[in-house]
Amino acid sequence: MDVAAQPPSQQHALREVFTPTRPQRSSRRVSGRQTELLRIFRAIALDRAHVVLYGERGRGKTSLVNLVASAARSSGYMVGRYTCSFDSRFEDIVRGLVRDLPKSMLAAPVVQDDELEGCEAALPRGRLQPRDIAALPGRLAGRHVVLIADEFDRVEDSATRTWFADAIKQASDRGAAISFIIVGVSDSLEELVGRHPSIQRNILGLALPLLSDAEIDEILVQGGRDAGIEFLPSVREAVIDAARGVPYVAQLLGLHAGTEAIARASSQVEAADLLAAFRRAVEEADPRVAAIYQGVTQGERDRTTLDSLRAIAGGEQDRYARFIVSEHEGAHFIADRWLERDAWARLKETGTVRACRSIGPDAFAFSEPMLQHYVLMREALEDSTPY
Ligand SMILES: Nc1ncnc2c1ncn2[C@@H]1O[C@H](COP(=O)(O)OP(=O)(O)OP(=O)(O)O)[C@@H](O)[C@H]1O
Ligand SMILES: [Mg+2]
Repeated sequence: MDVAAQPPSQQHALREVFTPTRPQRSSRRVSGRQTELLRIFRAIALDRAHVVLYGERGRGKTSLVNLVASAARSSGYMVGRYTCSFDSRFEDIVRGLVRDLPKSMLAAPVVQDDELEGCEAALPRGRLQPRDIAALPGRLAGRHVVLIADEFDRVEDSATRTWFADAIKQASDRGAAISFIIVGVSDSLEELVGRHPSIQRNILGLALPLLSDAEIDEILVQGGRDAGIEFLPSVREAVIDAARGVPYVAQLLGLHAGTEAIARASSQVEAADLLAAFRRAVEEADPRVAAIYQGVTQGERDRTTLDSLRAIAGGEQDRYARFIVSEHEGAHFIADRWLERDAWARLKETGTVRACRSIGPDAFAFSEPMLQHYVLMREALEDSTPY
């Protein structure tokens, strides 16, 4: 592809629209998610509850909380955000969140220090206690504080989870006008924040579902319109098949395929552009994903395992990309597709798929979620043209 030949403005527009590496910031580009936005908002506004939002990587958690944050700000809430890292502790996260609140909201500081950022002067010096959280709203000028801690799954310190549970408990017991939104990669609420029966009633646990096919389609249609290109219907269908409801994949393929079309000085994205996009996505895939694929299929020589892998990747799944493999008289099926017994055993033994026991004894998911798309894109490349 000759980069120099691309009209720079259109290429630039495309990159502004399709952003696989960036969460969405404006509601205009967020497909779906109205139900989730409403549920989170209701929990905070009506129930004064706290929210735990969890799901696989790339499903749109940060994009959704961006919407929540801007909706909350426009309704007069004070919003503070913090992105956790592996070494974050309770203290760092809370101070980070409160530093992100605008200084103008500080009403009754407990520390006199102009150097402190945001509203940190509303927190006492020394080690923070859960009760300091409950006292926080009383020291601020606004009516309700929303504190959003993203990437909470990265926190390694387990005591931090207990401290948060205590903070939530104390804030709820005192009816403090403060809500936490805790966000992270996880299969379950307990895995992300720990098991704390005392706070269950005060928390809305929300598993973020995949997008519907129509919502994936909307990303391409709306994005194409904004970037001045058009994805042909057959291309959109093929993207929907590869994305399986994951917005990240739709963004990635939209960008790569659109880049190809613009490089041809065409405003129509055709099958060949999408194949080039698949090729690029496969080449640039996480080496771990490629290694699992090569290993389990023995470099595609083990066609039986490859067929089973493809049947699963393209087969029936629930709204969270989990699939059911049922057994009848020693044979295994996903929906009505048959899986060869040794191949299925191999996929399990190698850890390519993992059991989701909290859902049911027959429920499984890909251990590495991107493998599903990798398998489908490689299959499409093998079948190549015509769509
Ligand atoms: N509803 C949506 N409509 C359109 N694009 C979306 C939507 N949700 C997410 N995206 C896009 O999908 C990609 C992943 O989104 P986001 O970063 O919000 O996911 P995440 O769940 O926070 O991922 P991670 O677990 O890696 O933090 C981004 O490119 C984002 O722009
Ligand atoms: Mg995120």
